[in-house]
Amino acid sequence: MSMKSEYRLDKAKIQRAFAAAADSYDAAAALQRQVGLTLLRRFPLQPQPGVILDLGCGTGFLTRQMVVSFEHQPRLAMDIALPMLAASRQRNTGLSVQYLCADAEKMPFRAGCIQQVYSNLALQWCQLATVFADCRRLLAADGQLVFATFGPATLRELKAAWMAVDDFSHVNEFVGAVQIDACLRQAGFQQIACETVVYPVAYPSVMALMRELKGLGAHNVNTARNREMTTRKQMQKMIASYEAGMAGAEIIASYEIIYVRAGRQV
Ligand SMILES: C[S@@+](CC[C@H](N)C(=O)[O-])C[C@H]1O[C@@H](n2cnc3c(N)ncnc32)[C@H](O)[C@@H]1O
Repeated sequence: MSMKSEYRLDKAKIQRAFAAAADSYDAAAALQRQVGLTLLRRFPLQPQPGVILDLGCGTGFLTRQMVVSFEHQPRLAMDIALPMLAASRQRNTGLSVQYLCADAEKMPFRAGCIQQVYSNLALQWCQLATVFADCRRLLAADGQLVFATFGPATLRELKAAWMAVDDFSHVNEFVGAVQIDACLRQAGFQQIACETVVYPVAYPSVMALMRELKGLGAHNVNTARNREMTTRKQMQKMIASYEAGMAGAEIIASYEIIYVRAGRQV
């Protein structure tokens, strides 16, 4: 379970989209940085010795914050997109971090070898049941999994605007806190804390929002998406519908963030 179960993820497209966004990501990722800092404040790193893994590290913002907190703990940063890891290595020059290109659904670690897994806005691109089961396997007995992910209200205004155009799935679908909690329990996690916050973000135009999504690499990866190119006419209709739904001159896009901490301990 990750995005709603009736939506299937196109893994090859996810990898390509993020690989292509490695250079544009940082300029578009203000919300991602804010969420990363909030995640570390809400669920701080534990002082226990042991390896800390940043899962889906992207250009390495969270990795950097974590090195600053606990300088002497071994750090691993993993991502499915090699150009993201290259960008992370460049931005974090001088920091002691090991990089690994791998899929969060097939992690190459032996059981119990990681003390803490942190992940900022990456797990929504994965099958959660698979990732949670593997995280439980690789975490030490007193380890923790901490992550932030998008919830179902994310980009609800954009979703509503596309519904005025056609029935295709134009916006990624994400699961909610209740399903995440159930999925973590099923994987054997305990002491689960989930907190949801909706952030309204203002944009000067719908196109500015669309440009930001492109810069992030956050393309629609549902297999139920329209495989044809969106026409200019369809885009104009969506924009008109979006603008008609706004009270003022600004365009508002909502992002629902679910902050989660789960303990490995039995
Ligand atoms: C929105 S970015 C977040 C990056 C970073 N954590 C941050 O806070 O800026 C999502 C990252 O997850 C990575 N990702 C997506 N699916 C993944 C998977 N199955 N395994 C590992 N990384 C994945 C993408 O390549 C991308 O770099």
